[in-house]
Amino acid sequence: MKIALGCDHGGFSHKNAISEYLQKNGYDVIDFGIYEEKAVDYPDIAQKVCRSIQSGECDRGILICGTGIGMSLAANKFKGIRAAACSEHFSAKYTRLHNDANILCLGGRVIGIGTALELTDLFVKTDFEGGRHQNRVNKITEIENNGGI
Ligand code: RB5
Repeated sequence: MKIALGCDHGGFSHKNAISEYLQKNGYDVIDFGIYEEKAVDYPDIAQKVCRSIQSGECDRGILICGTGIGMSLAANKFKGIRAAACSEHFSAKYTRLHNDANILCLGGRVIGIGTALELTDLFVKTDFEGGRHQNRVNKITEIENNGGI
């Protein structure tokens, strides 16, 4: 599985720790930055990660900003992206099981690195349940295909 990573200045150290953790555990990682701790606009990074998933270059993504919220708002504007901002284990697991989320958003100012690594682990290891949840995800896609109307 290939994971796209991205962060703004609110998630820099978390992103680097997640990158190291994923690679140590055998995942391929593409790091879309930032590569030094300077202020950037989170939608610019969200866009890079989302495009890599849309193109099939990466399978899933993890985006980290200060709260995880800005990244999730930006990411969910991209077709085919289901981004979930999570700060605890249950949500990180169930957004895979029930929502087939393809991007996990984390808040570098909300959770510590230890929790961020555990949520990352759940996100990459949990499979979508499908079945009745597939119908619901299909309805999200239908809304998207109708231009959000
Ligand atoms: C940057 O200061 C901060 O606004 C950003 O990281 C994020 O929390 C936005 O949602």
